[in-house]
Amino acid sequence: MLFEQKIGNPAGAAVARKISIGRVKLDGTVLLAPMSGITDVVMRRLAGRLGAAAAVSEMIASPELTRSGEEARLRLEGEGVSPHIVQIAGRDPQCMAQAARIAADSGAAVIDINMGCPAKRVARQLCGSALMREPELAEHIVAAVIASVDLPVTVKMRLGYEAGSLDAPLLARRCEAVGASLISVHGRTRAQFYEGKADWAAVGAVKAAISIPLIVNGDICSPEEAKRALRLSGADGVMVGRAALGRPWLLGEIADALTAEARRQPSTAERCDIAIEHYRGQLALYGVALGLRHARKHLQAYAANAVARSPDTRASALAASLVRSEQPTEVERLLREIFDLADGNAQVDLAEAA
Ligand SMILES: Cc1cc2nc3c(=O)[nH]c(=O)nc-3n(C[C@H](O)[C@H](O)[C@H](O)COP(=O)(O)O)c2cc1C
Repeated sequence: MLFEQKIGNPAGAAVARKISIGRVKLDGTVLLAPMSGITDVVMRRLAGRLGAAAAVSEMIASPELTRSGEEARLRLEGEGVSPHIVQIAGRDPQCMAQAARIAADSGAAVIDINMGCPAKRVARQLCGSALMREPELAEHIVAAVIASVDLPVTVKMRLGYEAGSLDAPLLARRCEAVGASLISVHGRTRAQFYEGKADWAAVGAVKAAISIPLIVNGDICSPEEAKRALRLSGADGVMVGRAALGRPWLLGEIADALTAEARRQPSTAERCDIAIEHYRGQLALYGVALGLRHARKHLQAYAANAVARSPDTRASALAASLVRSEQPTEVERLLREIFDLADGNAQVDLAEAA
């Protein structure tokens, strides 16, 4: 594909170190964050092709995985994704260990443990970020998972449960002591949910506590923010979540800004092809009825990004029809029209710049 073409070292680019997750070597330092309902295999495949060094699966509840539920099966899908990183959630060490074995048997290359999810339904079951309040149990879970699989195991957490208990450095050190291979930290507390700004400097306290690689996460939406997050935290890589929705090429843009190489970024027409590929991939993965539901937030985000490039009011009207449409052929036609309007605008911009 044209947009994967490397075009050399842009002047002044910072050369970032590469990261290894245990024996798994990553080709870069920019990761796609796990996002439930978003980072299915279609999104992870695209992210990898467009420049992410790795992409983490949606979390899979360990009891659901051990019951082999249909939703768990879909979330576990990793065809065409390398390395295939599967995130599991739960609080029972034996169940987590069993879930990790199932993920390993289905082809996972790395197991990630969720200790950062703030969602009420997860925290009510004392999983996700709630584990940050039970460091002994958290350590026990990590040790049990590591003992159950011959794969690197990583942990994703927040700064702490709340402002008075920024326990990430201590917890990260405990995870490292029992054999974790990498830690990623979202620079907010659980109590913050998504309020305020991620505190990248506070993530730096974790860097000082561990010697395994650290990934900084939260509010990284541009190459400049990635550089700043790395500088303030001292982390080895960045993890990008919401900003990649409807813009998976952002991962490659950030990767290029951090390395000595540059990929030619996709043109507007190629972005439209990516959006259509994403849409078709989801219909194929879930079937049309469920696929339409899963695709809606992606379509909305692709359209919003394209519309932001076009002052033409027709683009907003088309975007509204796009997210309502249940006809795949109509969706693709609307996407092309929206991106065409954005492209017209980009050409005007170029003409003005000339
Ligand atoms: C819709 C959504 C779903 C998420 N699901 C997960 C998840 O399954 N596992 C997890 O560890 N974090 C999950 N997160 C948190 C993200 O991985 C990330 O830590 C957070 O969004 C902050 O990064 P960002 O500002 O780059 O989005 C989710 C976030 C969002 C917005």
